[in-house]
Amino acid sequence: MWTDDLEQRAAEVLPEHVYDYFRATAGDLDVLRRQVDAWEAIEHLPRVLRQASSPHVGTAVLGTALRTPVMVAPMAQQVAADPAGEVATARAAAAAGTLLGVSTNTAVRFEDIAAVGAPWWFQLYVMEDRALTEALLERAVAAGARAIVLTVDITGLEHPRAGATVSVEPTEWGAAPEGRRLANLTTEERERARGDGGRIARDLGFETIGLLRERTGLPVVVKGVLRADDARRAVDAGAAGVVVSTHGGRALAGAVPAARALDAVATAVDGNAEVYADSGLRTGAHVASALALGAQAVFVGRPVLWGLATGGADGVQQVLERVTSELRRTMNLLGAPTVADLTRDLVARA
Ligand SMILES: Cc1cc2nc3c(=O)[nH]c(=O)nc-3n(C[C@H](O)[C@H](O)[C@H](O)COP(=O)(O)O)c2cc1C
Repeated sequence: MWTDDLEQRAAEVLPEHVYDYFRATAGDLDVLRRQVDAWEAIEHLPRVLRQASSPHVGTAVLGTALRTPVMVAPMAQQVAADPAGEVATARAAAAAGTLLGVSTNTAVRFEDIAAVGAPWWFQLYVMEDRALTEALLERAVAAGARAIVLTVDITGLEHPRAGATVSVEPTEWGAAPEGRRLANLTTEERERARGDGGRIARDLGFETIGLLRERTGLPVVVKGVLRADDARRAVDAGAAGVVVSTHGGRALAGAVPAARALDAVATAVDGNAEVYADSGLRTGAHVASALALGAQAVFVGRPVLWGLATGGADGVQQVLERVTSELRRTMNLLGAPTVADLTRDLVARA
């Protein structure tokens, strides 16, 4: 897979501890391979003799028009791949006609990301010190975030200290570049986040969705849903979207891959909210499978970091455009002229 070659090149240019942090999963390294393989295992049943010479891949997510359904996942510590961090990623997203998620743990100020002009969603980890969360929400809304992505697959119990100098991610504790995070808190707030206040809150329930919606006036997307019943509850509680995700294999090592959870979640949501997928998506064929199984759009994670590390904004743009052109080619062969024509019957085995 070309993304493997790109990863190899990134591994050569990145400091080892940064590469390890980006590549890390919960459990052993095979966890990520399982995410990718689950997409690879999905087979297609193409329609023939349909005119679809130049398939149209444009779509919209929560009312934002995109030129491609390939979006950029929220990822912490992007400055470790390129000093411009999310500013470079946002430039690539703008050039490719898509949006990006911006992590709670970004090392770049919201205003600087927003100034690029790409649409962006703010990814939230709710912290024990709710004043810190309030401050981040207020600043993200003021800077122009179009939705709040509430990540729910990483919990306080596993993460003693979301506010330490390293990432909140479990397995890479201590491996991330130090001190490069939480750029949207003041120095005093960052100090508080380094203590217990920065832990990921343990007392969250489905009512958090409605509270966030009320607090921000923005649509709330719940990230890290793998079960049909949870998806239904999230939507009943006011979620505008759910992301079927294993956090790229970084949360629960033994969780079912997103590729296998998507169908049941999309069926349960039944059009009452938007469904997105991420974790292990690497090719346009994978994206076509996700859309056929009910996703409105997808997020790509690590390949974006590999592009960023090897080529900055241009490198990221190339990744997004390559996956998009593969998607177009796949749609052409599937007999699907638009993303709306990517329907469940095109998938032989999920
Ligand atoms: C280095 C790294 C940092 C991440 N940081 C966050 C984060 O801060 N918040 C979050 O919700 N997800 C985070 N994720 C998970 C991504 O949003 C996404 O779910 C995952 O990377 C998708 O899988 P993929 O990398 O296989 O494409 C991170 C992933 C990576 C690789």
